[in-house]
Amino acid sequence: MILVTGGAGFIGSNFVLDWLAQERTPVVNLDYLTYAGNLDNLSALSGDERHTFIQGDINDRALVARLLREHQPGAVVHFAAESHVDRSIHGPADFVHTNVIGTFSLLEEARIYWCSLKESEKARFRFLHVSTDEVYGSLGPDDPPFTETTPYAPNSPYAASKAASDHLVRAYHHTYGLPVITTNCSNNYGPYQFPEKLVPLMVLNALQRRPLPVYGDGRNVRDWLYVTDHCEAVRLALKRGRPGETYNIGGNAEKTNLEVVKTICAILDALRPDEAPHEELIAFVADRPGHDRRYAMDSGKIRNELGWRPRERFDTGFRKTVEWYLDHMPWVDNVASGAYRSWIDTNYKNR
Ligand code: NAD
Ligand code: TYD
Repeated sequence: MILVTGGAGFIGSNFVLDWLAQERTPVVNLDYLTYAGNLDNLSALSGDERHTFIQGDINDRALVARLLREHQPGAVVHFAAESHVDRSIHGPADFVHTNVIGTFSLLEEARIYWCSLKESEKARFRFLHVSTDEVYGSLGPDDPPFTETTPYAPNSPYAASKAASDHLVRAYHHTYGLPVITTNCSNNYGPYQFPEKLVPLMVLNALQRRPLPVYGDGRNVRDWLYVTDHCEAVRLALKRGRPGETYNIGGNAEKTNLEVVKTICAILDALRPDEAPHEELIAFVADRPGHDRRYAMDSGKIRNELGWRPRERFDTGFRKTVEWYLDHMPWVDNVASGAYRSWIDTNYKNR
C-alpha cells in the first residue's frame, strides 16, 4: 500500500481517486481535515476496501509511527500542507507548523521506518514530496522558465515554508540516504478545489453575480496545470523517478490572471446566456503584498526522463472545470458556508 497525506484536499483527493482507478495498490489516507480537507471529495470511494481514511495530524509522530508500522507502506506521498498564499500573509504561523515542522515530523518517522526495512524493501521505498513552482520566486516577462536548477528565492510565507520543507527533504536523502523524490508543480485547476483559490472563487462569485476581485493590474502570469495531468505525473515520478531528484511539472499554459478570469466569464456566458455578460463583474482590487509577477515551468526533465506531458489543453480543461462546479452545486454550497464566509471578509473587505 501507499500512505498519502492530505488526501482529502484538492490535489490529494484527485490523486487518491485517480490512483485507485489506475492501480491495484491500496491507499491509507492521513488527513487532519482542516478547513481545506473535505471527505465529500472521496464519497465515490465509500465501500472501497482499498481506501482507509485516518483523520490525524502529520505532526502527531506517534500516530504516523503506528500507521507506518501497521500498514508497512511501500511509499509515502506527501500532499498535506497549508496551501493558500493569502492565508499565509494573514497568518504565517500555521504554515511553518504544518509545512515545515509537519514535513520534518513525517521525514523523521519515515526515516525510522525505512531503517527497519529489509534491504530489498529499503531500495524500493519512496518518499515523494509534493511542492510548488513558487519556491523559485518571480520571473520577468522575458526570463526563461524555471528549471530544476533554478536557485530558490521564495517570496511569500507560503513559498518560504514550502522551500524549507523541500530543503529538509533534500537533506534526508543526502545525509541519510532516504529515497526521496520532490515534484514542483505549477497552479493546478480542476474539480474539488476549495473556492479561496482563483478559479473556483471566480466561478462561484460570477454565479452569484458578485464582483470578480482581480488583484493589482491583473497581468500577473501563472502556468495552469489540469489536476489529473498533475496526478499522472506524480504517479510516474513515484514509479520511475530517480531517488534524490526533483521534477518540475507544468501545464504549458501561461496566462495572465485577467485572461483566466475572462476565459471563465466567456464559458459562463455560453452556459448561462441569460446572465451574460459576466465580464462586467470584474473589479480590480488592491494587490496582494509581495505578489509574484510571473511563474513559468520548464517540464523538459520529466518529459525526457519519464515521458510525461500534459494531456489537457487550457481551453478544454477550463470548460470541463467550470462545468464540474455547475454540476456540483451541493458540494459548492457545503464548502462555501460557515468558516468560509469569515475568510472572505478577512481577505476582501478592506481591499
Ligand atoms: P489543499 O489546501 O486543498 O489541501 C491540503 C490538505 O492537507 C487538506 O485536506 C488538509 O486537511 C490537509 N492538512 C493540512 N494540514 C494537515 C496536517 N497537519 N496533517 C494532515 N493533513 C493536513 O491543498 P492542495 O491544493 O491540494 O495542495 C496539495 C499540495 O500541493 C500542497 O503541498 C501544496 O503546497 C502543493 N501545491 C499545490 C498547488 C495548487 O495549485 N493547488 C500548486 C503547487 C503545489
Ligand atoms: P491563487 O489561486 O491564490 O494561487 P497562487 O497564489 O498560489 O498562484 O492565485 C492565482 C493568481 O490569482 C495569483 O496571481 C493571485 C490572483 N488572485 C486574484 O487576482 N484574485 C483573487 O481573489 C485570488 C484568490 C487570486
